[in-house]
Amino acid sequence: MPRAVLVAAIGRGHALAKKFHQSGVELHSLMPFHNPGIAACSTSFQIGNINDPAAVAAFAEKIDPDYVFVAGDDPIAAGAADAVIEKGFDAIAPLKSVARLESDKVFARQFMQEYVPDGTPVFQTFTDADEAQQYIDSVPFDVVVKPSGLTGGKGVKVQGVQLKDKAEAKAYAAESLRTYAGGVVVEEKLDGEEFSLHAFVDGEHFATMPLVQDHKTAFDGDTGPMTGGMGTFTEPDGRLPFVSESDYQTALSIVQRTIDGVKEKTGLKYKGILYAQFMLTAKGPMLIEYNVRFGDPEAMNLLPLLKTNFHDVCSAIVDEELEGFKVEFEPRASICKYVVPTGYPERKEQFAFSIDESKLGDVDLYYSGVEKKPDGTLWTTGSRGFGLVSTDVALQGAYDKAESVIAGLGLKGFRYRKDIGSEESIRRKVERMQRIRLGNAAVRKEQVAQNP
Ligand code: AMP
Ligand code: GLY
Repeated sequence: MPRAVLVAAIGRGHALAKKFHQSGVELHSLMPFHNPGIAACSTSFQIGNINDPAAVAAFAEKIDPDYVFVAGDDPIAAGAADAVIEKGFDAIAPLKSVARLESDKVFARQFMQEYVPDGTPVFQTFTDADEAQQYIDSVPFDVVVKPSGLTGGKGVKVQGVQLKDKAEAKAYAAESLRTYAGGVVVEEKLDGEEFSLHAFVDGEHFATMPLVQDHKTAFDGDTGPMTGGMGTFTEPDGRLPFVSESDYQTALSIVQRTIDGVKEKTGLKYKGILYAQFMLTAKGPMLIEYNVRFGDPEAMNLLPLLKTNFHDVCSAIVDEELEGFKVEFEPRASICKYVVPTGYPERKEQFAFSIDESKLGDVDLYYSGVEKKPDGTLWTTGSRGFGLVSTDVALQGAYDKAESVIAGLGLKGFRYRKDIGSEESIRRKVERMQRIRLGNAAVRKEQVAQNP
């Protein structure tokens, strides 16, 4: 029986653990708190500091696995893969210096400029507040301010959303430089629809997963503060209704050039999951950021749909045999709705709760910011609580199922976004993208008329 170590904490980790378990893998998990979902799918587990590479390596030595799968950005950025490889194990996660693609936004944007300039918005990086502020005043576009390091998806602020105007953008750029080490990126605000493209990568080749759309803001109608992600959907064909074939091909080409670029720039192979976050604009897909791991909630949509044995996929990554390896997904739609404590993300609300799992039907539940205490009670950690995932032959069916299960659970102290995956929300996105494309076409026509 194959044996794996999983280093994980939240819902993404529960989805991975379940998939390993279903694929006939003997799983041993290292996690920062007792996540009841990961624990239930593991032969053994240990609570420890997953962000300490030495602790990860020591756990691997104890288990002696075929490979170590590191699920989250923080342990990867800290060097978990480097530490286990040094002990002679294979890692499914990029090395620390490659993980800068996510952990260092300044490095990431400079890398993109070099290898995928067509997918990179206008930007500049700063370590000096005055220079950042002068730049913000000088550019004709609205800006996005990004502190360089990992901020749990909450450090980025967008003009017109979390930042009222350029004055607030300038103040935030200065604040970021005081708060976070490593500089700040100021870039052009892109207008469009976001989508996530995930790939299994073996260093040279990659196999893609269905496209997913996440919803990053806290409240319905894409309003409120940034969160880690409130919910996601996929369509049965693995595409999204607003992404054209040519957009998709461009996104694939950006992924391939990224993998090749990593090899050229660092001399290292990218092995693991690459999740490219795109904004689909009138000019095509532009990179918002790279993530060097599965998205959360995206993993909860993608892994249940994976038809190919997950251990076989992991082995193909480790053995660099993804070329020609067919990775298949169920042709079904999926929706993941994150159920979060009412005060999230502003307040960290910790309380005991219980769930009647008999009311879930065929909807999956993945525990995220939920800790099982020694007395067996479940407590929220204050972060996103749990993901509910439903699949169906069509999105509407998945939506209806998720809504009726949530209503039936009678949850107290929690909230979720009702709009994610609704027919109206999808229609609005498609129409919005059409308007953006038409706007661009009109501008081009005018330019041609003026300069025939
Ligand atoms: P990130 O942490 O880089 O994924 O950014 C968080 C969120 O900020 C993204 O999911 C987008 O919604 C938004 N964002 C980041 N960069 C841009 C940009 N250049 N234009 C518009 N929105 C952006
Ligand atoms: N879905 C957002 C993230 O995982 O970064």
